Amino acid sequence: MKVYSTSECAACYFRTAADYPSKKSLLQITERCNLHCKHCFVSSVCSGQDMDLDLILTKVIPEFVKNNISKVTLTGGEPFVYPHLIEVVEALRNNEISVCICTNASLVTSDFVNRIKGLGSIHFNVSLDGFSNDSHGKFRGNDSAGLFTHIMNNIKLLGSENMLNGILVTPNIYASIEEYKDICQFAKDNNAKYVLFNPLSEFGRGEESVSLSYTEQQMLDLRKAVEGYSDSKFEIVFIRFPNSNSIPLNKCPAGDIIYIFTNGDIAYCPYMVFAAKNSSSRYDYQDFVMGNIFSSSFDWNNDVNNYRFPITFDKVCAECINRECKKGCYASKIALGKHLEECDEQLCPLINGTNTN
Ligand SMILES: C[S@@+](CC[C@H](N)C(=O)[O-])C[C@H]1O[C@@H](n2cnc3c(N)ncnc32)[C@H](O)[C@@H]1O
Ligand code: SF4
Ligand code: SF4
Repeated sequence: MKVYSTSECAACYFRTAADYPSKKSLLQITERCNLHCKHCFVSSVCSGQDMDLDLILTKVIPEFVKNNISKVTLTGGEPFVYPHLIEVVEALRNNEISVCICTNASLVTSDFVNRIKGLGSIHFNVSLDGFSNDSHGKFRGNDSAGLFTHIMNNIKLLGSENMLNGILVTPNIYASIEEYKDICQFAKDNNAKYVLFNPLSEFGRGEESVSLSYTEQQMLDLRKAVEGYSDSKFEIVFIRFPNSNSIPLNKCPAGDIIYIFTNGDIAYCPYMVFAAKNSSSRYDYQDFVMGNIFSSSFDWNNDVNNYRFPITFDKVCAECINRECKKGCYASKIALGKHLEECDEQLCPLINGTNTN
């Protein structure tokens, strides 16, 4: 189920929400990463915490099964630096849970792919922010010769096994619009279902590297240049692009996607947690944590299903005359040091537009 429709502006960082009544979860199995991307909202480095394998097998997966979580995305940090990735994938599949792995694709191996390909319902989302060793390497913090080609070959391998779901792109000044067109063609050629463009957001390291973002005009030019790649089998998704046509914003689906941090904290929305860690935030990240799955007092029904967010939607943009607008994204407001009740000014249809470029 899409988080937005074509008549609404995609204000949410998530592409899809859960398909009621089944639910979806993201599991941050490690904070560690082999790369050092300029924008990383997790601020991942080579050291950090891993989720305990035993706790995944004895606590997390049984909770997923009891609570109808039918899709899990493994994320990080970089999932491929987690030493027990294969065990986690196998355990999820043994419980008939579909698996998506969100990866920078630099550590994917043919051995790994051969081992999982018979398990069914396993897909990959690969992040690619440029289409050359130079641009990709500058943004992702490693421009060693051959790395980009190696990543390309890994993506081709996933594509040839029909395991490539989407390519995730954060447009940035190191890469040209031509490169982003090449990424779209490459994704199509390798059987991906979509390319998702989302802006460099001011969370984690993104707070300091916001100057690397495309400008609003470049984002509009990019949209124009790549939207023609969509067809009935292949989608181009634009997240939080400038609201040049003053379209009403979509509704925040927080709480529908369960994000579990490495330490067991369950976020109402992970982006709210990342945003709350910003220097300008008025909130503490714990304000957006529903509970901790590893705590002895944790109770899914009480902590997750019955969680009540501190404010109600009718308090957001309370004075606004635009009744169609569903008020956009809390995380973007938190990151900018605003109150939850305030308007998502970056996209608000009364403030933005009407530039049909
Ligand atoms: C945190 S990474 C974890 C998985 C894996 N290491 C990867 O790079 O795909 C998940 C996704 O978040 C994106 N991301 C991280 N920080 C971001 C930011 N500040 N703004 C937009 N996207 C960001 C990455 O580009 C990647 O697509
Ligand atoms: S975005 Fe992914 S690859 Fe880049 S530093 Fe963060 S976790 Fe690592
Ligand atoms: S706060 Fe809501 S709209 Fe924003 S990213 Fe989170 S779920 Fe999406």
